[in-house]
Amino acid sequence: MTNTTITLDTLRPEDHDGVARLLHRSLVHWYQARLNQGARFGDSPEPFRLFPEVYEALDPGQAIAARDEATRELLGVCFIHPRETHVAVGIVATAPEAAGRGVARAMMQAAIDRVQAAGLPLRLVSSLLNLDSFSLYTRLGLVPHTMFQDLLLNIPAEGMTSPPPPGIERVRLARADEAARLADFEHGLQGIRREKDYAFFLRNEVGDWKVWVMEDERGEVNGVLVASHHPACGMIGPGVACDETTGTALLWRALDERRGSSAVFLVPSAAANLVRTAYSWGARNIELHTAQILGPVPQGHGVVFPTFLPETA
Ligand SMILES: CC(C)(COP(=O)(O)OP(=O)(O)OC[C@H]1O[C@@H](n2cnc3c(N)ncnc32)[C@H](O)[C@@H]1OP(=O)(O)O)[C@@H](O)C(=O)NCCC(=O)NCCS
Repeated sequence: MTNTTITLDTLRPEDHDGVARLLHRSLVHWYQARLNQGARFGDSPEPFRLFPEVYEALDPGQAIAARDEATRELLGVCFIHPRETHVAVGIVATAPEAAGRGVARAMMQAAIDRVQAAGLPLRLVSSLLNLDSFSLYTRLGLVPHTMFQDLLLNIPAEGMTSPPPPGIERVRLARADEAARLADFEHGLQGIRREKDYAFFLRNEVGDWKVWVMEDERGEVNGVLVASHHPACGMIGPGVACDETTGTALLWRALDERRGSSAVFLVPSAAANLVRTAYSWGARNIELHTAQILGPVPQGHGVVFPTFLPETA
């Protein structure tokens, strides 16, 4: 492997099984070797097929593949998500046998070249438990700015044990024609716009999504929160709310809908009331992440719920 020449090209649909195996293998290997936590990714690559399937539907032809030039074997993947205001990147993964040889750096540099040619900021969310990826990104010039707590909650079969928070009656499922409205709301609070993500969730053709929206008394959007109901992905997010009260109501509603299962959600550590409330529901910290950006550090408002599928930053 040491003498292998690596080439970069584009990921293709016929790579999906290989991508699932690579993601599973690299995550299990990294988390087992460094944190003794490989088991958290299960023993089958099958659930990881959802990543390339969702990304092929959302951003066809965008993902970068690193291959062994001689054998064409897949050694790395880097998913790229261009949006109106920015480009999100993730997940990035390198095959364990090719680690530490600059594969991820080469893929990221290609992503950065593309993003800079478009004149947009590059955004991602990186694990604070993974100094390899954190360092990879910061060495390439990305700036960490907002810390998030990954919280895990097991929701009983009979539903959330805590009473519904105030305002819950104003939380409802979004209508199929609301993508632009939700994207405008996020743009107003966070300065990023990504209508195609909301349109994708609302079409609900790949994966299994519910989009919760909360409105104020005048019918203005106050918050939006997406939840994955696909068996391969138990994440709540992405979402954004104008304040912690709204975020709490949306989160409670999305969690209650996932009765009898467990869910992972990322909450900004600075949203202290929301974090405390999640603890009172029984949620446990399982990881920390930070948003990173190549470009001006954002000065957004409101409470953000990032996710990794699709990577939203
Ligand atoms: C994280 C991961 C993608 C790195 O891939 P890789 O191909 O081994 O990384 P590279 O060899 O391209 O580069 C790593 C860079 O980080 C640097 N680095 C690593 N640890 C560092 C540290 N503690 N301090 C400073 N720099 C560090 C390396 O020196 C290198 O930078 P350089 O090219 O400027 O020398 C890989 O470990 C992986 O796939 N992990 C599992 C999946 C995962 O967790 N992905 C990240 C999701 S957020």
